Amino acid sequence: MVQNAQKWYEMMSIKPSTSPMKPYSRLSVAPMMDWTDRHCRYFHRLLTRQTLLYTEMVNAGGILYGGTERHLRFNAEEHPVALQLGGNEPDKLAQAARLGQQWGYDEINLNCGCPSDRVQRGAFGASLMKAPQLVADCVKAMKDVVSVPVTVKHRIGIDKVEDYGFVRDFIGTVAEAGCTVFIVHARNAWLQGLSPKENRDIPPLRYEVVHRLKAEFPEFTIAINGGIQTDEVVLEQLDHLDGVMIGREAYHNPWWLARWDQLYYGGAPCPLTREEVEVAMVEYMEREAAQHGTPWPHIARHMLGLRHGLPGARIWRQVWSNHLLKDRPAREVHALAMDTYGTFAYGQSAEAETASSARQE
Ligand SMILES: Cc1cc2nc3c(=O)[nH]c(=O)nc-3n(C[C@H](O)[C@H](O)[C@H](O)COP(=O)(O)O)c2cc1C
Repeated sequence: MVQNAQKWYEMMSIKPSTSPMKPYSRLSVAPMMDWTDRHCRYFHRLLTRQTLLYTEMVNAGGILYGGTERHLRFNAEEHPVALQLGGNEPDKLAQAARLGQQWGYDEINLNCGCPSDRVQRGAFGASLMKAPQLVADCVKAMKDVVSVPVTVKHRIGIDKVEDYGFVRDFIGTVAEAGCTVFIVHARNAWLQGLSPKENRDIPPLRYEVVHRLKAEFPEFTIAINGGIQTDEVVLEQLDHLDGVMIGREAYHNPWWLARWDQLYYGGAPCPLTREEVEVAMVEYMEREAAQHGTPWPHIARHMLGLRHGLPGARIWRQVWSNHLLKDRPAREVHALAMDTYGTFAYGQSAEAETASSARQE
């Protein structure tokens, strides 16, 4: 393993799952289906030690009947890591939460924000906001069997109803079951007529609703989510709220995470360069292939944003996402990617030099 990366991991304190995290993490990377799997979280953890990472939503039934290990296995390096559950049956959620704690997750989160048709057919996700007492029952059932925090991620409303009282009463009811941490995606979920993707963009963001919730429930931990892409906005939100959860921007522009420990936790910034992060990921790909037979493209796809915004990023990304290379060892693909990138970057700087000496002449 690259020496710096090794030191980095050695420095990392692995939190035991029984110690509730207090105060709540100021920054978190959002649960994102098909994106924030354990490989993605391993990658993100190379960039930030402190940020709380969430799993993708895992259906409680899937954990109980569809292969517990397949759904719950994660790398020790990922802590602190929260397991997000989907479901609406208190018994099943409690069993799944108990397993989650046994597997070492630091938090159990209930999804009350996903608007997909499949989730709606199962009457969970965002449609659970219409049944706050059921959510409270689910939370209570989970809290009765685990000692890690049980938290809820939800929207500010359903469909076009913009009544503040709806979300206030939702929180009030769920809090009676002992939930004190709410992660609020600051837009409504429109259950009819929008795809999940559209539901992340079209319903307007209303941060002021989340601020009002915090003012009304100062004793609760309230984190905000939705459309946050810059340090300026994060800092502004942290003036009002306990935490900020970031989804798409963290995934597409992961190098942003390398500054978070310093900016938001008063710690050291990530000591690794992009190149060292890439090498550490190649080593991870090799370990995963040897131990679990994981093909490297399953891992590499999550790091394609590593050079976001840099000259040559596209050509580098093209190598790592080239399916014709999928049977070659990760190390070879890495060498090819770096060669191509190096040649491009060299070409760029040589071009820039020529242009600047031409200007000087
Ligand atoms: C590909 C993708 C998958 C998502 N899957 C989930 C999920 O499993 N559970 C959940 O609560 N939210 C899910 N979300 C929503 C995000 O957690 C987040 O609430 C949303 O993207 C808004 O935050 P952002 O603007 O920072 O991306 C998903 C978002 C994306 C882009």
